[in-house]
Amino acid sequence: MADRIPIRTPNEISKLRKAGEVSARILMDLQEIIRPGITTKEIDDYAAELFRREKCGNAFLGYCGYPGQLCISVNEEVVHGIGGSKVLHDGDIVSLDAGAIVNGWYGDNALTVGVGSSVSEEARRLMAVTEEALFRGIEQAKHGNSLADVCGAIEDFVKPYQFGIVRDFVGHGVGRKLHEEPQIPNYRPNYPLPRLKRGMILAIEPMITLGSWRVRVLEDDWTTVTSDGSWAAHFEHTVAVGSHGGDILTERPRIALPEQLGISL
Ligand code: MF3
Ligand code: CO
Repeated sequence: MADRIPIRTPNEISKLRKAGEVSARILMDLQEIIRPGITTKEIDDYAAELFRREKCGNAFLGYCGYPGQLCISVNEEVVHGIGGSKVLHDGDIVSLDAGAIVNGWYGDNALTVGVGSSVSEEARRLMAVTEEALFRGIEQAKHGNSLADVCGAIEDFVKPYQFGIVRDFVGHGVGRKLHEEPQIPNYRPNYPLPRLKRGMILAIEPMITLGSWRVRVLEDDWTTVTSDGSWAAHFEHTVAVGSHGGDILTERPRIALPEQLGISL
């Protein structure tokens, strides 16, 4: 449905960038408080304070009845974890996913970070591969490419590591709503995808696991975990399709480069 993908003007993109900047700042501020002993409820409460401070809307709270300020997904939780009594421990990994609304325009972004100082080498590799896969996808988000080039770049980068690529959740267009056309799988699908045009806005979000790609949703109807209990990572940026690749609207420093995590890929 290429004709249903909105094309945003430079002026609209500058408004989306404002929403993206706030979304990114909220994630960076949240990342600062991640430490062993904190509960996911405390993270959610701090997010509430950040949204108040930024005087922006919250893209997730109330979305299809979602009860949290953001999604907080620990270890085998892939996405949509809800803040609660869970305590973070040294060596855990936690994914934070948050979106701001500024003047009716939406931002969406996510990252995975290690807790404390004893995160396993395997988990650090998972985070590094997932962040790099996101950037391989962003690189392909350029005018004239097929959307399948974005999807394929993510799949091709992840494949040699034999990690699981989650299939039940996908990236998406974002703009005046949290979810717009198109859907963006993290693998090359067996159906044709539209051509990309300058000004399309994409939220690209690989969700990668150390084991199976299969997931299931818990009793709370939100928290999504791997079917085999393997750990998962999730990185996301909102980008505008540009002439030379995706223009990142949720710009923030990278946190999972191999050299930052003391590994090589
Ligand atoms: N970033 C996720 C997405 O794009 C999270 C949204 S689910 C919500 O789908 F319910 F929390 F909003
Ligand atoms: Co998203």
